[in-house]
Amino acid sequence: MKTTRRGFVKTIGFTTAAGVLTGTSLLSRSVQAQTRKAHLEKVYDGGVIQLNQNESARGPGPKTMEAIHTHTTKRIGRGYSPDHVNELIDVIAAGYNIERNEVLLATGSSPLLQGSVRAFCAPDKPLVTAGPTYSTSEGTARSIDAPIERIQVGNDGKLQLDVMADTVREVGAGLVYICNPNNPTGTVHSPQAIEAFVRRIMSENPYTVVHLDEAYINYADPSVMETALPLALEFERVFITRSFSKAHGMAGLRVGYALGQEQTLDMIDNAWGMGDVNMIGAIAALTAFEDYEHIEWERHENAEIREFTVAAIRDLGFEVWDSHTNHIFPNLRRPAREFREACLQHNILVGRDFPPLAETHSRISLGSREEMQQAVEVFRRVLG
Ligand SMILES: Cc1ncc(COP(=O)(O)O)c(C=O)c1O
Repeated sequence: MKTTRRGFVKTIGFTTAAGVLTGTSLLSRSVQAQTRKAHLEKVYDGGVIQLNQNESARGPGPKTMEAIHTHTTKRIGRGYSPDHVNELIDVIAAGYNIERNEVLLATGSSPLLQGSVRAFCAPDKPLVTAGPTYSTSEGTARSIDAPIERIQVGNDGKLQLDVMADTVREVGAGLVYICNPNNPTGTVHSPQAIEAFVRRIMSENPYTVVHLDEAYINYADPSVMETALPLALEFERVFITRSFSKAHGMAGLRVGYALGQEQTLDMIDNAWGMGDVNMIGAIAALTAFEDYEHIEWERHENAEIREFTVAAIRDLGFEVWDSHTNHIFPNLRRPAREFREACLQHNILVGRDFPPLAETHSRISLGSREEMQQAVEVFRRVLG
């Protein structure tokens, strides 16, 4: 392992500060140019505004689109040893200043979530998770008869990390799933809070594995949250997962990855099929990964859209937790089903039920600027 904590922070400092280094005026010029482009090239939505899944209303950035077009050739006929997949691993490893064997690719991060539960949970090794949170880990635990301990989020929408750690110790958990930022609440935990949690689990429990799901990290304010990768490199029983389906706009290309120590990633890989990342997905992912300016633009664009939408919902008299993702989870004081059905009458899809808050809260994924302008008009009508 090459990465020291200081070396790593330096690398990430450069990456996340890419927008800052380019200068504010350049960034805002680029924001304006790309915003116009995003408005012109609408993601196909089949006639409805899709605010029901946390994908991207803008799709990949211009450089990634160009790479996809350039590589869509007859060469696709040769894909059993797909081009660019090894290169993608190299690019990710270099981006984090880690070794190739500390990266595990998958067809989206979903197989990693499934594989980790299969690797580390069993009928005598429970899963500890939150409620509500992303539910693939819980669904997988159910399918293998592993007990599930679901700790409800606090009144601030945040994971109750102390209660989760108590529960891990009480039940002798095989795996604890931490979604940071959390889907659907949008809330985030600081690096200090995550580090204290991880160190407590490592010292109190001889075999519990910690999964830190950072699918939405690129939407989080970097002053509030940073990656837990140093902990995954330090402890064998910690790994993180990432997705190209969110800020990179590539949900349809199915690419995700885990970062951690080789032996941990091998256990996940051996427990479940990770699928084969395809050559177009790989070239798109490595282009998107290195396009720091676009990711900065995407974060900025999403933040403005989120601010507009949250302000409109608060103006209507409803509470919304501060979100660090591309979705919000307001308390609409009515069942999610009711709100969903009312929105559907106006060709807007919003999120499914998220128990145990399905009677009060609804998840709204954020679309493009123009989609959210239309959606807010509808929200005023159905909630007014
Ligand atoms: C928190 C979280 N993790 C993982 C995923 C899975 O995404 P993918 O398989 O597209 O990488 C999602 C998808 O919504 C998610 O919200």
